[in-house]
Amino acid sequence: RHIATGRAHGKIIMLGEHAAVYGAPALALPVPALGCQATVSHLDRPGRGPLRLCRAVSVADGPAEKTEESAPEGLRLLVDAFARRAGLAEPPGLEVLVESGVPPARGLGSSAATARALVHALDRLFEAGLSSREVFELVQVSERSAHGRASGIDALAVGGTGPVLLADGRGSTPPVGSECHVVVADSGSGCGTREAVAMLGAAFAQAPGRRADFLDRSTELTRAALGDLENGRLPGLGRRLTDGHEMLAGLGLTTNRTDALVQAALAAGALGAKMTGGGLGGCVIALTATPHEADAVAGRLAREHGVHTWTVPVAKGAGDD
Ligand code: MEV
Repeated sequence: RHIATGRAHGKIIMLGEHAAVYGAPALALPVPALGCQATVSHLDRPGRGPLRLCRAVSVADGPAEKTEESAPEGLRLLVDAFARRAGLAEPPGLEVLVESGVPPARGLGSSAATARALVHALDRLFEAGLSSREVFELVQVSERSAHGRASGIDALAVGGTGPVLLADGRGSTPPVGSECHVVVADSGSGCGTREAVAMLGAAFAQAPGRRADFLDRSTELTRAALGDLENGRLPGLGRRLTDGHEMLAGLGLTTNRTDALVQAALAAGALGAKMTGGGLGGCVIALTATPHEADAVAGRLAREHGVHTWTVPVAKGAGDD
């Protein structure tokens, strides 16, 4: 076989971003509607072949924007690590076509989705039989290169089907007590996950007490939100999200625009709202109970702030623990 495809999708972080980098828990949601597919062709040349990447990113049903680029370092390292695992004599020459509906640099997991789709495609192409742990570890090779430090929450969520909890280094799918709908709004400006992670790292090195306070508060909020999610206490879950936004704003991770979008979502009736992911731009999320409420919030954000929105339905379900 000389060609194979793999798939993954976008994600949002409900609570615990940044704290997860230091081992605190985080809660994320997959966004299956934002799909990412990698098609890998084996160039069949001897020697360490090229890794050519063509990206076709199509955001918000617009036409796909095609770019040809040399693959980022993280994807090269991923292919090298895969080649070692698959027992290949040397990294193969590959042409990779990534067709993605995940807007890049918005905190929606585009780097992890690309890496995960690529890993699945390589697994099929070379019939490597990777375990889910091995898939995760390979995505992490790329994520660490892209973000400097990477907790693993993105690598898990871009392959998940329900909410994902990362706690004590382990991923699980918690139960959901009540259906709800999360509106995602793109502030239109880039999310600088790498810069944000580095900025906090530097700030915490100066003030370790600040880091301890942040981790305690984030852990408390994430655990409480998890209880609310499991028991269908949506107003409580909403409050935790808004509290999470305030906490991240206190660390300098929000912008005037993401703050304004959060306020507008709350004014439109959202149960809670916050920035999501790396911050310094990117997206905000807003919790609503019904599709009707989600439409009202999304409509107001689009009308008054001209942003693109997506709604992520969260189904009631049993979870895996
Ligand atoms: C990015 O989606 C979440 C961060 O916490 C980074 C990470 O956990 O790897 C900012």
